[in-house]
Amino acid sequence: MLTIGKLHLKNWLIMAPMSGKTNLPFRIIVKKMGAALVITEMISAVGLSRGQSKTYSYLDSHPDERPVAAQLFGSEPDTIATSAGIATEKAMDIIDINMGCPVKKVVKTGSGAALMRDPKKVGRILSAVRKNTSLPLTVKIRAGWSPEEANALEIARIIEDSGADGISIHPRFASQGFSGKADWSLISRIKAALKIPIFGSGDITEPYLALKMRSETNCDGVMIGRAALANPWIFKQILDMEKKGSFDIPDLNERYHLIMEHYFLLIKYVGENRATNTMKGLLLLYTKRLPNRKFLKGIISEIDGREKLISVINKYFGYIREEIVSEG
Ligand SMILES: Cc1cc2nc3c(=O)[nH]c(=O)nc-3n(C[C@H](O)[C@H](O)[C@H](O)COP(=O)(O)O)c2cc1C
Repeated sequence: MLTIGKLHLKNWLIMAPMSGKTNLPFRIIVKKMGAALVITEMISAVGLSRGQSKTYSYLDSHPDERPVAAQLFGSEPDTIATSAGIATEKAMDIIDINMGCPVKKVVKTGSGAALMRDPKKVGRILSAVRKNTSLPLTVKIRAGWSPEEANALEIARIIEDSGADGISIHPRFASQGFSGKADWSLISRIKAALKIPIFGSGDITEPYLALKMRSETNCDGVMIGRAALANPWIFKQILDMEKKGSFDIPDLNERYHLIMEHYFLLIKYVGENRATNTMKGLLLLYTKRLPNRKFLKGIISEIDGREKLISVINKYFGYIREEIVSEG
């Protein structure tokens, strides 16, 4: 079990925040698969503090996904503190501050990973947020801005001293983007130096790697990001691996039902058009390890609505079921 501030989680697995991906329907899905904590996409503190309705909608939640953390990004202490107050009123369970995003649009406003270049501001932001919420407070960081500014340990100490309850670390430099390998040894160093819980993020592509990260770094929790997009079952697989040393691969029926469940959740929360477009992309991810994706790839651009998408999904699964039966 993992405890963050006053919040007790059912296990040590966290769905990494991913903008454009970890929306409410996906969070509900991974929660069912065993993730102990989910995090919203990053939400603009400026947008929330100005009362923008689209930004507010990122705080929409559902009891099935709780506990859920709201991830906020911004550059000014007062604005971030105000937005943390809003997220608290909207019944989020944790406030998480993004200090790791390397995307140009974000860092040019002094937000995300740019904050790691301004340690004093990091302290000011967290002190201001701490005063405005009694929720557990966490921060997500990178290894630093660049190899020349590798200051994750310094920043982590400031975060702890400012009263935060946990730190997630994706140990790549902002300048690296997603290239190279995540340097798990940095997770170990930060864990050894600090008292608050540390969560490792980066390159958990297979279930055994989550157990490996935890035992190698001694981190308290492990975040899974990209791998969960194609394989939301990964949380259950990691927990099974921990308990019994092995895990099951989902069969065709499970995959089919998950795709349908995800599609209908998307329709409910984002409307039919956006749901259909999103599911067209997800379908290729969810069927990544299945045969005959040529059929899907060939037909996907012709899908223009719910009826067509469902008929393509049914046809594809019907076809590969028959293929597997006749081969078996
Ligand atoms: C498409 C995408 C969007 C992301 N968006 C966010 C975000 O909004 N906030 C954040 O802290 N990290 C974000 N990340 C980083 C992930 O949370 C995670 O740290 C990173 O992907 C490494 O983990 P992985 O190898 O398990 O994917 C994003 C990553 C990807 C691939």
